[in-house]
Amino acid sequence: MLPYCTVNKTGPIDSRKQNIPMTTPHTALITGASSGFGLLTTITLARKGWHVIATMRDLARRGHLDAAAQSAGVADRIEVLQLDVTNNAQIAALAALIEQRPTPLNALVNNAGFAMAGFAADVSDQELRRQLDTNFFAAAAVTRALLPLFERQRFGHIVMVSSISGRVATPGISSYNASKFALEGWSEALRHELRPSGIKVVLIEPGAFETDIWTRNAVISEATQAIAAAADSPRKSLLTRWRDRVQSRTKRADPQLVADLIAVILRNPNPKLRYAIGTDAWGALFAKKILPAGIFENMVYKNSGIAN
Ligand SMILES: NC(=O)c1ccc[n+]([C@@H]2O[C@H](COP(=O)([O-])OP(=O)(O)OC[C@H]3O[C@@H](n4cnc5c(N)ncnc54)[C@H](OP(=O)(O)O)[C@@H]3O)[C@@H](O)[C@H]2O)c1
Repeated sequence: MLPYCTVNKTGPIDSRKQNIPMTTPHTALITGASSGFGLLTTITLARKGWHVIATMRDLARRGHLDAAAQSAGVADRIEVLQLDVTNNAQIAALAALIEQRPTPLNALVNNAGFAMAGFAADVSDQELRRQLDTNFFAAAAVTRALLPLFERQRFGHIVMVSSISGRVATPGISSYNASKFALEGWSEALRHELRPSGIKVVLIEPGAFETDIWTRNAVISEATQAIAAAADSPRKSLLTRWRDRVQSRTKRADPQLVADLIAVILRNPNPKLRYAIGTDAWGALFAKKILPAGIFENMVYKNSGIAN
């Protein structure tokens, strides 16, 4: 029987299409659940009756999630476990724990990530690797660790929180672009590979949303910080123009929209590969699609602030 179906006299009903309550709670595992999209998706799914395994690298940071769960009245549906997605031993231990359970895992949301700011020339090899470790290799590793379980079940949704920066590259965040472009390519191939098993792989591509990625979790490469601090440097005016342009764009969307989208996708038996979300993301994709490449390139260049 299909995993999300109940049976009546007329045959199987897909509970997600009919929007009827789930008969048994479904389970989702989310990475990076201490803030932003991860926290909101945890609460949103729990409100809808899911059991959520909310993972975070530092359990001392669970306070916001606990408070949100208490005020939503869903604390009993949320299990908080430690997972630093760059720690292979922790990934293996978590996968082993979940494998032992009698209940299926219906969804994995690879959400943990951060953004490294700095022009390509000013990001060290070590910094670039750190960016790809978290945003790409870790998502691949967590997915691989849980794939045997998903393949035995022959169902499940694997959601990758990518970014519009995985479709359109812009100056100043080349490392982030590289990590999300890698995630996009890997996930697209994985979707084809898992199709015979009935496992759905989905990419979410948000534009700019108001989360800690812009503040507490913002990472600026060391060389970029040195240029910014220098009294004079040939690159300083370039950096200042770019930074001023980024900082002038303070209008960011409500991250709850992304959590709501993920909840809808997890109830869709046939989700698309890609879901862009946010007016800025839709605008960028539309412009890239309809404009001649040279004109689109000029538009990105001029909008980035680095053009003189
Ligand atoms: N907000 C946006 O505008 C935007 C747009 C497009 C895509 N995204 C993507 O959305 C995802 C979530 O980001 P967010 O916007 O919600 O930002 P956020 O509030 O900063 O959340 C990021 C989460 O990832 C966690 N994290 C970072 N490194 C980790 C690691 N090694 N192991 C485990 N957890 C780790 C953080 O944990 P700590 O609390 O311990 O730091 C935090 O919980 C990211 O993949 C990001 O690239 C965001």
